[in-house]
Amino acid sequence: MTWTATVLTLYPEMFPGPLGHSLAGRALAEGIWSLGARNIRDFAADRHRTVDATPAGGGPGMVLRVDILARAIADLRATTPASTPLLALTPRGPTLTQARVRRLAAGPGVTLICGRFEGFDERLFTGSLGVEPVSIGDYVLSGGEPAALVLLDACVRLLPGVMGAIQSGESESFESGLLEYPHYTRPATWDGQTIPEVLRSGDHAKVAAWRQARSEEDTRLRRPDLWERHDGARVQSPSGAREEKDE
Ligand code: ADE
Repeated sequence: MTWTATVLTLYPEMFPGPLGHSLAGRALAEGIWSLGARNIRDFAADRHRTVDATPAGGGPGMVLRVDILARAIADLRATTPASTPLLALTPRGPTLTQARVRRLAAGPGVTLICGRFEGFDERLFTGSLGVEPVSIGDYVLSGGEPAALVLLDACVRLLPGVMGAIQSGESESFESGLLEYPHYTRPATWDGQTIPEVLRSGDHAKVAAWRQARSEEDTRLRRPDLWERHDGARVQSPSGAREEKDE
């Protein structure tokens, strides 16, 4: 069954954008997934197609009107399965994780609401619409569209048939709660740096052990937040020496 993405946006022309190319673009052309972008302005009620209003309590910017978004959502419900998650992109949401991406990719698709201006009326999340906020990271974009493209890219590459011969990514960063190990390729020596000997040893067990150790070490050094949550954090790391050297 086709995984169906629907995007509510003020800039439908931003889609599919980069998702029309490479892996995602090919999968889109093959019908593995589909993408529909609907203009929020189509659901405005006035002649000027107004979708925003000034924030209650004052302050800068404008806020997207919840009644207009509710009309758009009601319209989409007629054409998307009831079980389709309804997400709004906002830096105020919980951060997207690879586990969440996996769950979304395993479902029927996703409906994404992109904001511009100051953001959404909070009643979009607290009312009966069932919209969940989601962020792609702790920084502020000028709108939700690039965040929607990021979320969709992460989901689409996991759909069956999209990555083809490429491994389904069990050893990828975050799948095990760790960063992936580093990669090297030819030339063997470049800029005075040589590929680690073990990777040229042909000893698969040694290579696997080295990769696991580097996964753990790099996670500990670069992403202490991930390392904290990982089981390995409770056992003594074998690479403590490097930490002392580097810090
Ligand atoms: N809109 C603006 N910034 C965002 C972010 N970090 N994540 C999701 N949507 C956003």
